[in-house]
Amino acid sequence: MLQTHTPNAHSLGSVTGPTHRVLSEAEALSRLRSKRGQPGYLAMFSSWLGGIVTDPALMQIPLDDHLVHRGHGVFDTCTLSGGHLYRLGIHIDRLLTSASLARIEHSWTKADLIQMVTDTASQAGIKDGAVRYWLTAGPGGFSPSPQECDEACFYCVIFDPMPLGGTGSNPMSSGIPEATVLDTPMKPPLLATIKSNNYLLNVLTHMEAVDRGGTFGVLVDDTGYVAESCVLNVAFITRDKVFRTPPFDGILLGTTIRRVMDLASTNLVQEGLISSVAQSPVLASEVSGDLISEMFLCGGDTHLFPVTSWDQIPVGDGEVGPVATRLLELLEQEAFGTGFGEAADFIEVPYAD
Ligand SMILES: Cc1ncc(COP(=O)(O)O)c(C=O)c1O
Repeated sequence: MLQTHTPNAHSLGSVTGPTHRVLSEAEALSRLRSKRGQPGYLAMFSSWLGGIVTDPALMQIPLDDHLVHRGHGVFDTCTLSGGHLYRLGIHIDRLLTSASLARIEHSWTKADLIQMVTDTASQAGIKDGAVRYWLTAGPGGFSPSPQECDEACFYCVIFDPMPLGGTGSNPMSSGIPEATVLDTPMKPPLLATIKSNNYLLNVLTHMEAVDRGGTFGVLVDDTGYVAESCVLNVAFITRDKVFRTPPFDGILLGTTIRRVMDLASTNLVQEGLISSVAQSPVLASEVSGDLISEMFLCGGDTHLFPVTSWDQIPVGDGEVGPVATRLLELLEQEAFGTGFGEAADFIEVPYAD
């Protein structure tokens, strides 16, 4: 329908008078509380505040933190499972590498960072949940220079994981369709290897994939090699049972894919499901050429999504395969506590009660 546009005072560049007034402290707090009605955010640590808050209305990041206005921050995650922080150490190692590549100067050691996350989890009170934390250049102004930032900041939040999609079916057991992302460029290698807060291209990758009938999106480089997905690494099983995943040059050093490779070599070779594990470049044409029997995406410690079709072409026989099924089972058994896994991968949270 043709819209007619009537010029008003705003579009002419003048204003009619103030429409927003200054809020009192009590009003601002009450509005923050009303915007944070949903349950789930249980505790947040802020080095800027020097402590933990449990009121979601107070879980705020300073507007002038370089994280907010320049994306000058890095982040990572881990899983709170049965009162233990699962694989926090490996995630913190990656956070420290990301911070160093992003040239964020700070004085925290790995032990300091683990302590701040553990303290937050302990105040959150829940035994199972999700953990996210950020190491940022910190607040201090709005210029691109971090010299104006007084101190690096660390923020951590513990929350109840939101159900995926909410469709009722579990895409990890039923499989997902995928699509090659063609219009969203890949990140340059430096940015792709830092887990930074520059995730605009990752978000656009996901959105374009959905537009094309996929789920998370698959990035393929100019020479036809598979890179990664928006927030997941990609793995393949060849028809002759070789587990293959692309090398980590120019993609994120995934923590889940590394655990999956270990589990594949220690368990699946013995079980006869695969013959070997290799980190070698994979051409997208190997999948369309029917040289691949299974493909899956993995990330976030315990998520593994079998890809049953890619660009509308079935992968393998178009069903969830035995390797993906078995690896997901092993990942979940380890993370959700059926007694195997390295003790160092489970940091016990000291709860108050
Ligand atoms: C771009 C990208 N690739 C891969 C991954 C998977 O990494 P991880 O297994 O450590 O979650 C992520 C995780 O967020 C990611 O952002």
